[in-house]
Amino acid sequence: MSGDILQRLLDTIDWGRLPAHIAIIMDGNGRWATERGLPRAFGHRAGMDSLKDIVRICGELKISYLTVYAFSTENWKRPMQEVNVLMDLLVEYLGREINELCQTGVRLNPIGRLGELPLRAQNALQAAVERTRANEGLSLNIALNYGGRVEIVDMVRSIAEDVKKGYISIEQIDEKLVSSCLYTTGQPDPDLLIRPSGDLRISNFLLWQLAYTEFWHTDILWPDFRRVHLLQALVDYQRRERRFGGLKNVNST
Ligand code: FPP
Repeated sequence: MSGDILQRLLDTIDWGRLPAHIAIIMDGNGRWATERGLPRAFGHRAGMDSLKDIVRICGELKISYLTVYAFSTENWKRPMQEVNVLMDLLVEYLGREINELCQTGVRLNPIGRLGELPLRAQNALQAAVERTRANEGLSLNIALNYGGRVEIVDMVRSIAEDVKKGYISIEQIDEKLVSSCLYTTGQPDPDLLIRPSGDLRISNFLLWQLAYTEFWHTDILWPDFRRVHLLQALVDYQRRERRFGGLKNVNST
């Protein structure tokens, strides 16, 4: 992809209307490797380079939140060897990238049932969260052992507990409270969801938060996905009209 295309996309973007929150399902690592006759682990490793480039460009564009789906609650069904590769890559990514993440002001915010991850992953995450806690740039949510349904279960349990203890009444349960009890508490819902690799599924990702998110997909496999594709998604996103169930240009009376 030439620098000309990149520049043209950068020139097309309306800097005042960038999404505050982008979510990405990093799909296609396995297919990328298989197409090359390589073990799946090579695809995951190549996917790490894509993640690095996308985190960089999101920081440069001053996007506030980026949520990436790195390991789902369903991914435990994969062979233990592949699960181990993914956990090792996570530890490697955090170790290798932590200095750049700090230099560029990225704040790491892992989401999911983190206590069920292998201890080496938990320790690396905790260290990275502590080192990046005071950063004020991009908030990078890495979804790990994450499932949208499990997140909803955790939210229901936490609200039920508060009702049981008498801290809140049932009448106080509303959309705002529900949102504040999800892993993404305090963050705006994603404006844009990107899914590479051709599949058109939500795959148990951010089920509550994606209610009015714009969906953008491409056949490009995640290990081939780079900033130019993200910029294409942004240009397309800015052409859309978001009505959130309302009507175009109609003032409520
Ligand atoms: C889905 O592709 C991808 C994953 C389950 C893992 C995503 C992981 C990375 C991008 C690696 C680096 C990042 C961290 C932080 C661990 P798939 O394997 O299901 O692809 P397929 O559908 O082609 O088989």
